[in-house]
Amino acid sequence: MRRLKILFLLLFLLVDVIEAVGWLSVGLSSANLGKRSAGTFCKELKTLNRRQQRFCRKNVILMDSIRRGAQSSYTECQYQFHKRRWNCTLLDPLTHKVIGDVLLLEGTRESAFVHAISAAGVAYRVTRDCAKGLNDACGCDQTRHEIPETTRETSLHSIVPRESKSEFVSEGCSDNVEYGNMISRDFVDAAEKAHGKQKNSTSAQAEQTIINLHNNRAGRQALKTSLRRECKCHGISGSCEMKTCWDALPSFREIGSIIKDKFDGATEVQVVLGEDRPHLKSKHNQFRRHTHADLVFSSPSPDYCEADPVRGILGTKGRECNATSIGTDGCDLLCCMRGFERRVTVVQEKCNCKFVYCCKVVCEQCTRSIERFYCL
Ligand SMILES: *[C@@H]1O[C@H](CO)[C@@H](O)[C@H](O)[C@H]1NC(C)=O
Ligand SMILES: *[C@@H]1O[C@H](CO)[C@@H](O)[C@H](O)[C@H]1NC(C)=O
Ligand SMILES: *[C@@H]1O[C@H](CO)[C@@H](O)[C@H](O)[C@H]1NC(C)=O
Repeated sequence: MRRLKILFLLLFLLVDVIEAVGWLSVGLSSANLGKRSAGTFCKELKTLNRRQQRFCRKNVILMDSIRRGAQSSYTECQYQFHKRRWNCTLLDPLTHKVIGDVLLLEGTRESAFVHAISAAGVAYRVTRDCAKGLNDACGCDQTRHEIPETTRETSLHSIVPRESKSEFVSEGCSDNVEYGNMISRDFVDAAEKAHGKQKNSTSAQAEQTIINLHNNRAGRQALKTSLRRECKCHGISGSCEMKTCWDALPSFREIGSIIKDKFDGATEVQVVLGEDRPHLKSKHNQFRRHTHADLVFSSPSPDYCEADPVRGILGTKGRECNATSIGTDGCDLLCCMRGFERRVTVVQEKCNCKFVYCCKVVCEQCTRSIERFYCL
């Protein structure tokens, strides 16, 4: 049996989302259970392992948030990598079949990113949906106001100066990242943990599991550290005698960029079997030690230049490139110095539009040529 990875699972959910769009648009109000029982619904998610099936039955009302978390992870991955040779195409757009699976089993930097963004995406969506009141299972973070100011994370202090005495501050609806992260831990990490326990899982697989779990956690850590204090004033004509404050997550785009920075600074590690339990050690000792917040990988990435269907590498032939950019989207780098071709398309456009009294708009037809470059 092929080893089940969280990625397949998330992508499977994603395919489900794509298929669900049809009946969503018909006007059904919810994208989750429908008329099915929890048992039937969860069974249909065939790639879930036993632990995840149990999770699904117990937390079936969260499954819709989890799906949409998976979907935003994939969208964000494609956005963050759209200018690079590897552009995070994990599903065939036509068949919705998973491609790139072998590659993601190889423990590369790209695999680290996908794990971190997936774990973060699920935690993010669950957290936001809870704060919006979409899930009966959860709500706002009600513990915030019980926590003495001094024990809060330091990041909160720097943003909001201590309240002056004249102000009355009430606690608003804080994003409950602890809850979202807990769900992500239970559900996303479950896919990995099951493998570690398989009797005949090879040591390479066990090592990859440790690395994947580390990266899942690093992704969730990005949510915790990006919580910001936001306040809203209520008072006579803009005064701030009274205010409501809460801790809010930034946009998921911002989370994606944070994790992309972690990708750029990822550490190459090896798994060391210590006396008590295995741990990760940097392969290049001259660099600083990685922390829980950093992404780690165990094998160097291929160059992604030439197509290799067996490994799920699409290659860059036919990709659009930028002839003037010296970045990763520049034709030299993106096309791996193979060269590129220029294609000019002529488009007809309306132009010089004028308003004629009364009452129509008259335009001229203009032609414009658009120059584009594609890798050979
Ligand atoms: C585990 O080992 C058994 C026998 O040793 C074998 O038949 C089975 O295919 C193995 N399973 C996996 C997942 O490698
Ligand atoms: C990603 O790369 C593949 C393979 O080169 C290409 O077919 C696809 O159009 C690219 N996707 C985007 C969004 O650029
Ligand atoms: C190409 O790259 C240049 C320099 O980075 C940039 O100014 C320009 O907008 C890019 N062109 C396109 C079509 O993206």
